[in-house]
Amino acid sequence: MPLVHPVAMLQAAREGRYCVGAFNVVDYLTIEAVVEAAEAQRAPVILQTSSGTVKRFGVPILVQMAEMAAGASPVPVALHLDHGTDREVIRQAIHEGYNSVMIDASAHPLQENIARTRDVVEESHSHGVAVEGEIGVVAGTEDDIVVQQDDAIYTTPEEALQFRESTGIDFLAAAIGTAHGFYKVQPRLDIDCLRKLAETAGCPMVVHGGTGLPSDVVTKLVAAGGAKFNVSTQIKQTYIDGLYEYVDSHRTEYHPLKLLNHARKELVEMIGQYMTLLGSAGKA
Ligand code: 13P
Repeated sequence: MPLVHPVAMLQAAREGRYCVGAFNVVDYLTIEAVVEAAEAQRAPVILQTSSGTVKRFGVPILVQMAEMAAGASPVPVALHLDHGTDREVIRQAIHEGYNSVMIDASAHPLQENIARTRDVVEESHSHGVAVEGEIGVVAGTEDDIVVQQDDAIYTTPEEALQFRESTGIDFLAAAIGTAHGFYKVQPRLDIDCLRKLAETAGCPMVVHGGTGLPSDVVTKLVAAGGAKFNVSTQIKQTYIDGLYEYVDSHRTEYHPLKLLNHARKELVEMIGQYMTLLGSAGKA
């Protein structure tokens, strides 16, 4: 089916108490792997790209690749821009085929974050594109955004409500102690904070920093009201480990498709496990 708008998908997740996986793709192999896993699990899914991936391929190619994979699939697939910090990249995504964009102005003071986010919401909504905003500061590394754990700022329910009401965003990324990348120190998660945010914010909540969280923690985050769950680093690790693994055991075989198929198979399995854990399996 054609790419879908993610709001209905995320509202259904919010009401049904499960999370839609949003997986950061970096090329066509990862796009295919995410869609194949979604088909195998009958799960709605979000393909998302970082600004770095957009800068590498350009918006038109990423949209074409996502449309190609989604078009051949019976499950709903949305295409989302993750952590948009560059206004020009966001503008292009809005005008050239993304279903939703994230404006990440969380590094700015609240009023400026609100102003920048509202500006993106106005442009996006007039083109039928949904918007994810962020309030608070999520620790870790995502492309060139680097935040130390001690500098993370947890989101309060009051701020979340004010932010949503004054910007008109469709879903909200909140800082609850998760971090981008592998956890080098024990995360200081505030699951109760997510529960309160989910109750007060009045829109689907996004959990960033999905990689490396133990299964029981993921289950608690889903139960606490997360509706979109982002996974990036694990995609890259499984992809690269899959390639190494195959090359190590087939050092004299020069067959790129066998090598790539191995990595893809590993990705499909890993992504499928997330879908089961998030409760989105069987929901498409
Ligand atoms: P991880 O890299 O920790 O999976 O985080 C992904 C993310 O939140 C992308 O925005």
